Amino acid sequence: MGILTIASFKGGPGKTTLCQIIAAQCASEGLSVAVIDADPTKAMSDWHRDTYEGVPFSCVAETSERVIADLALGLDEKSDLVLIDTAGFGNLAGAVAMTVADQILVPLTAGAADLNQAEETIKQAKGLASAARRKIEVRAIMNRLSKTNLTKHAERELREAGIPTLNATISHRTAFGEISYTGAVPSKGPAATEVIALIEELKGIGWIPNSDPRRSAMEV
Ligand SMILES: Nc1ncnc2c1ncn2[C@@H]1O[C@H](COP(=O)(O)OP(=O)(O)OP(=O)(O)O)[C@@H](O)[C@H]1O
Ligand SMILES: [Mg+2]
Repeated sequence: MGILTIASFKGGPGKTTLCQIIAAQCASEGLSVAVIDADPTKAMSDWHRDTYEGVPFSCVAETSERVIADLALGLDEKSDLVLIDTAGFGNLAGAVAMTVADQILVPLTAGAADLNQAEETIKQAKGLASAARRKIEVRAIMNRLSKTNLTKHAERELREAGIPTLNATISHRTAFGEISYTGAVPSKGPAATEVIALIEELKGIGWIPNSDPRRSAMEV
């Protein structure tokens, strides 16, 4: 189906949190999900090994720029969805993870610095796509939203900057902050509603398959 890389030039806008949300929710819906943790801090793969308690998905730590592309392409052959979590600074492994991607998701929080990093990340993605002579779709997603003027301002600036942005947003919520130590992605309440809306939108734009295509093929 495809390789979805989560990237940002700046540290901390929520790459790993989004990777956890998307991987866990898609696994719970019956998709086979493979995650590559390309961040040397290994936050995603450590969480997967030590803390995650939901429906299983695979996760491997791989930070070598020489290995990531072939690893991702191999996993893409046998998975419904490959997710790559990258480091919060521009390194070669991150660039390779963006170049091999079919889609790149760029989280950002409200604030001028984050808007700037999103623009820089998107420019980088476009440059890499040109270099590779392939099409790579890119979308930003607003994370840690709170209903403040700053958020409204950021939404307006995103539109004005022409940054393609998902309609789905992820609010600043304890339920999301807790994922890293509870091992559970929200399954009820307003946080779960946001997760489901995000997955539905990603399915709608073809970034995530609707159901397991191999299972559907077997059922025919
Ligand atoms: N929507 C949210 N609500 C509350 N807390 C959040 C939310 N999103 C992320 N956080 C918290 O913000 C911190 C940074 O998030 P996260 O680790 O996902 O960012 P990152 O982009 O992966 O960072 P890095 O660049 O260091 O890898 C974490 O403590 C996480 O729990
Ligand atoms: Mg991270």
